[in-house]
Amino acid sequence: MDKLKFEIPTLQRKEDAIEYINEFYKYDSKINGAGGLNKYLDSYEDWIVKLDQDYKTIASEKRVPAKTFFLVRESDNKIVGMINIRLALNERLKKRGGHIGYSIRPTERKKGYNKVNLYLGLLECQKNEIREVLMSCYKDNPASYKTMLALGAQLKSEFFSEEDNCIVQNYTINVNKSINEYKDVYGKRIVLK
Ligand SMILES: CC(C)(COP(=O)(O)OP(=O)(O)OC[C@H]1O[C@@H](n2cnc3c(N)ncnc32)[C@H](O)[C@@H]1OP(=O)(O)O)[C@@H](O)C(=O)NCCC(=O)NCCS
Repeated sequence: MDKLKFEIPTLQRKEDAIEYINEFYKYDSKINGAGGLNKYLDSYEDWIVKLDQDYKTIASEKRVPAKTFFLVRESDNKIVGMINIRLALNERLKKRGGHIGYSIRPTERKKGYNKVNLYLGLLECQKNEIREVLMSCYKDNPASYKTMLALGAQLKSEFFSEEDNCIVQNYTINVNKSINEYKDVYGKRIVLK
């Protein structure tokens, strides 16, 4: 059973991080939860600075404080996924977007990694005193909503988004309840620093 952990992005991961994003381009996949890394492939060093600024941001209608992590497989130290956790919500994110964005690299999907990614994300939310997590996804993205449902999410609302031309669903997860309830399932697959 593969064990996974969160890693704070550093300069040392430059080549791995760029290769991670390039895999999404290669497979023509949607990129989520990468903290904007895809826009910094030519200036990775600036992205590291940006992440620090993201964390220190004062919440406003434009921006909210956020943390971004690599999801790393313990056995070979490979970046298999990423997650972006918004530590506060503004009105825009309450309507659509929520606290968490995530992705798993195309060649490592359907191995249960994203459920572990979300479990680790909930632990990070708990550390930051977020009691209820709000998450959004498209109704036609089963891999995403099934991840949430696997962690006890409840559907709160759905609406047709003109901007996205599809139905957006909003789910909530009770952080403490989920962490306790799924400890024996996902807690066994994580490595804590
Ligand atoms: C969404 C995503 C992160 C899921 O990653 P993953 O590691 O493959 O997910 P997991 O293996 O942990 O599976 C999670 C659940 O989704 C299901 N699932 C995974 N891929 C699926 C697919 N293509 N179709 C239907 N269900 C799928 C799994 O069976 C599992 O459900 P279960 O517990 O009921 O069996 C990945 O597909 C991805 O990166 N997509 C592109 C970015 C994206 O859409 N992010 C979310 C935006 S809201």
